[in-house]
Amino acid sequence: MVKNHPLAHHRPQWKTHIGFLLAAIGSAIGLGNIWRFSYLCYKNGGGAFLIPYLIALFIVGIPLMILEIGLGHKMRGSAPAAFASISKKWEWLGWWQVIFVMFGIVLYYSVVISWCLSFLFFSFKLSWLPDPNSFFFNQFLMASSGPFDIGQLRTPIVFSLLLVWLFNWLIVFSGVTKGLERANKIFMPLLFFLTAIIVFWGLRLPGAAEGLKVYLRPDFSRLWDIKVWMDAFSQIFFTLSLGFGIMIAYASYLPQKSEIVRDSLIISGANCAFSLFAGFGVFSVLGYMAHTTGQPVTEVVTESIGLAFVAFPKAISLLPYFAKFFGVLFFMSLVIAGLSSSVSIIEAFTSGLVDKFHYSRKVVASSLSIFGFLGGIIFATQSGLYWLDIVDHFLTQYGLVVGAIFECILIGWIYKAQRLKEHINHYSSWKLNRWWNVCVKIVIPLSLLVILISSLIEELTAAYGGYPRLSIVLIGRDWLIYTLFFAIIVASHPWKIEPGERNLT
Ligand code: ALA
Repeated sequence: MVKNHPLAHHRPQWKTHIGFLLAAIGSAIGLGNIWRFSYLCYKNGGGAFLIPYLIALFIVGIPLMILEIGLGHKMRGSAPAAFASISKKWEWLGWWQVIFVMFGIVLYYSVVISWCLSFLFFSFKLSWLPDPNSFFFNQFLMASSGPFDIGQLRTPIVFSLLLVWLFNWLIVFSGVTKGLERANKIFMPLLFFLTAIIVFWGLRLPGAAEGLKVYLRPDFSRLWDIKVWMDAFSQIFFTLSLGFGIMIAYASYLPQKSEIVRDSLIISGANCAFSLFAGFGVFSVLGYMAHTTGQPVTEVVTESIGLAFVAFPKAISLLPYFAKFFGVLFFMSLVIAGLSSSVSIIEAFTSGLVDKFHYSRKVVASSLSIFGFLGGIIFATQSGLYWLDIVDHFLTQYGLVVGAIFECILIGWIYKAQRLKEHINHYSSWKLNRWWNVCVKIVIPLSLLVILISSLIEELTAAYGGYPRLSIVLIGRDWLIYTLFFAIIVASHPWKIEPGERNLT
């Protein structure tokens, strides 16, 4: 193996340690923490959801975060390069992860950011009044009757989507330090500040305590429902950006002297603490709405996905003072959280292409932004909401989970967990013990397998979301299959420089 290949020196590097941490935390904290976490909590019985969520964090989330950061640091490459350095036969896995998140998750994710951007502007006039539900579904989305009733393009959504992709492009185009690091150094403090205002404002509203009771009171009977566990595990992947190839790419830009274990704990901890903290804001505002309208908290929201776009706007308009200002703060925080994550997804794929084909980052970032915008257009049609729901369900419940099972098999059994652990412990002052090997080799793959099999049984018993079965097959399952084909094709192309030669250690 050629050590210190000249190309390795061209790999960008984070300028500061805090810059890396903020970028990784920025990737983790996203719409998932506010929009997805809150509606999953709501759907799965509030406090009851926190138990499987925290269990998933400790047995799967943190060990896998350490694995991905350790792997990126050791292999100095994107997910495809890292897996190919271990075995060429496994390169497809890295490509599959970065491809289905780039040509799947980020396409609809950017559309949800574009909804937030539109709602930021609507906040100035509280345009959703008098009926936020009808405003969101009938006026804004103009939702059609189902996934095959595509309907028309929603021009206002397309315009804000264009703006979102301009931001995405600008940040990724500018590179690791000038783009990602600099943007996150602005985004993250701003996001924490905005969220703190929202939470403290919310907590002072009348009825907040009722909302918090729903949020925090555990309903242990819900723990018997496997769906609660499935949601908790897939949320942990989604929220920590695991199985996306992002953390591997971000860690590949770290200097050699790095605190892998400590940083992984900081990133996972900050992300989950943020979700829990933001939940206080969301549920106290829901409590306030229940108090004002005289309904129980459990009944103020009917549509889970509409939590951010129906229930929240409604609650905002009930605020006695500065309602518009509150609306602007809330949607601005969603836009910022979303952008810091969407850029990380694009970076994971960009970094793979640059590693393998040595394309210029600027060309890759520009082409991906154009494809991303065009690819997202299906989610900006009248049937977009259904497409989004189906694709999100399949990519997160199956794509991320299957990818992670393979990742654990590859690292745990083929590369050997012990080998990676030695590398990690060599650099970290906080050491891993044998428990980590057990997690990577047995606990994570087995628990994910149980989740996967339960999801499949669930899927076969009843079509997800009550959609026509054909739409589930064509939009959900086939999305994963096409991206897998695409990954195998890219993996079969030769490398400009063999991945093993890029390795520095
Ligand atoms: N981790 C990102 C989120 O939670 C993708 O939104």
